[in-house]
Amino acid sequence: MSHDLYAVVGHPISHSKSPRIHSLFARQTGQAVEYTAIQAPLDGFADTVRQFFARGGKGLNVTVPFKEEAWRLAERRTARAELAGAANTLFQDPDGALVADNTDGVGLVRDLTVNLDVALGGRRLLVLGAGGAVRGVLGPLLAERPMELVIANRTLAKAEALARLFAREADSTRLGACGFETPAAPFDLIINGTSASLQGDLPPLSANVIGADTVVYDMMYSLQTTTFNQWALAQGATRVHDGLGMLVEQAAESFRVWRGVRPETAPVIEQLRTE
Ligand code: ATR
Repeated sequence: MSHDLYAVVGHPISHSKSPRIHSLFARQTGQAVEYTAIQAPLDGFADTVRQFFARGGKGLNVTVPFKEEAWRLAERRTARAELAGAANTLFQDPDGALVADNTDGVGLVRDLTVNLDVALGGRRLLVLGAGGAVRGVLGPLLAERPMELVIANRTLAKAEALARLFAREADSTRLGACGFETPAAPFDLIINGTSASLQGDLPPLSANVIGADTVVYDMMYSLQTTTFNQWALAQGATRVHDGLGMLVEQAAESFRVWRGVRPETAPVIEQLRTE
């Protein structure tokens, strides 16, 4: 049986879990899918994409640092990719035009609401960071109609700009922006979307953002408890989660977009935890 070819493109790419996740999806669903990892040169993303589809490739995932470039390169964008300003999923429409999609935000929302049973509607959310990763998830988070969503960022102007950009999506949600020192009262859910812990840093938040029932979610995934989640635990948080579930859910949504079949994610998340 010949397999349809998919890949993830990034730089670096050797540690990507996507080939493993998609091979588990393919096995589980019986789809004839082969999925590899491609490291594109930093100045060669567009060529890499063109060559991949010219060779008959069916779909790409895109990761750091190419998500914005993928978005610009595409000839068409889904509504959620348009809003995200970045693409993590590429494919061709029947006319051969390059289409950009973004499954990160729905992946996060599915992990929270389905896997972790964390309700978002009517709740108070604090989102840390105002870079590409946060922009990518704000649309789907707002679509769940939280009561309040506060974007906190080291550079206040970037948080304010994002709040303005998403004002139309906010509907009944109170959407605000602030620096790290400002938010005080406990939130129902705190999502870390900064890259601070990559540098071993923590956003300088006051401890009282965390109450007894606060759920803490770090969009980062690491084998050990993430730096941010260690901090949250030290402040008394009891419910902390990392981004592995989001990683698997965004992959599942890409797989569904490409193949029309939604894989079961729970066994894949469980499997990856043991590897
Ligand atoms: P990404 O695509 O991962 O979102 P990005 O667009 O460069 O990358 O955004 C990085 C985010 O992490 C920003 O919100 C950044 O804050 P600034 O807007 O003030 O730069 C945040 N960040 C990075 N390093 C940080 C640190 N050491 N402390 C606090 N926030 C940090």
